[in-house]
Amino acid sequence: MKLNIAILAGDGIGPEIMKQGVAVLDAIAEKCGHEFAYEEAICGAHAIDEVGDPYPDATHEVCMRADAVLFAAVGDLKYDHNPTAKIRPEVGLLAMRKKLGLFANVRPVATFDCLLHKSPLKDELIRGADFVVLRELTGGMYFGEKYQDNDKAYDTDIYTRPEIERIVKLGFEMAMKRRKHLTVVDKANILASSRLWRQIAKEIEPQYPEVTTDYMFIDNASMRVLTEPRFFDVIVTENTFGDILTDETACITGSMGLQPSASLGEHTPLFEPVHGSWPQAAGQNLANPLAQILSAAMLLEHFGLEKEGALIREAVDASLAANVRTPEIQVEGGAHYGTREVGAWIVNYIKNA
Ligand code: IPM
Ligand code: MN
Repeated sequence: MKLNIAILAGDGIGPEIMKQGVAVLDAIAEKCGHEFAYEEAICGAHAIDEVGDPYPDATHEVCMRADAVLFAAVGDLKYDHNPTAKIRPEVGLLAMRKKLGLFANVRPVATFDCLLHKSPLKDELIRGADFVVLRELTGGMYFGEKYQDNDKAYDTDIYTRPEIERIVKLGFEMAMKRRKHLTVVDKANILASSRLWRQIAKEIEPQYPEVTTDYMFIDNASMRVLTEPRFFDVIVTENTFGDILTDETACITGSMGLQPSASLGEHTPLFEPVHGSWPQAAGQNLANPLAQILSAAMLLEHFGLEKEGALIREAVDASLAANVRTPEIQVEGGAHYGTREVGAWIVNYIKNA
């Protein structure tokens, strides 16, 4: 297969983990006879420095003409320390999501048996947890009308019927491909936007009689994902709830450095780690490249390259089993492996598979 992939490495640890993600894609291309061409583009804080825009038009054009985008992370301390700055890396991220129409953010949550002890939760509670959070990504408070003066501020949590319908349907479709269990997470006891979500989900529910559907308030859901994570199969929820819930679910996996995601919608699909740009670690060969590498696996699987995705996952599992791990998940007394070494080990595994 021929694929044109836009590469948006972004800021902080982004370029380091991206290098490993691309190396793994190259190894797969060579091993399985595919042709992957890359086009790099700037985004985030360094795009602000270079051209004054965190998601420049030129970058959008690169994304639009690609078959897929592999994205790393954006963000820089100088903006984290100055939350009132108008032009911010995060603004670019939101512009990218909106312009590419990426309304569906797929965030799988799974455990690795050899890393269960890295979770602050009890082994027996999380063992075998395997679910997907489907987060709506282009609506709600993130994009609704905002206002701020010295005495008053608001964000509008606005959703329209078509926006809700398309994401809820996708939730049901995903559930059909998995264990046929969908949990709609909302705050329908308080929020009007949530009540519309629930109403529309209930309208769609009869079209999927095989799916067991339940409705859960976000406060309750944020407890249940920690106390009973195996209950869940597919969770569908609005933008803000999904954002919060998926940092929480990262503690089931044991490290933010292990969570890939896919953002799908109207234009080019985009694949990115759930974690941020960790500017403090930039250039230190410390960051875990696995979330980026697993995002590349999700990219391939999106195009039907299941065997290739499975080979990457096998290589990742093997690296963990061999204790070839970055410091935050390394066993006590284990050897030091950095971003580059972990990536190189996985590339080598794929070559020799
Ligand atoms: C995420 C991030 C972003 C979000 C930030 C960086 C704007 O936290 O992708 O989860 O809130 O969506
Ligand atoms: Mn987040």
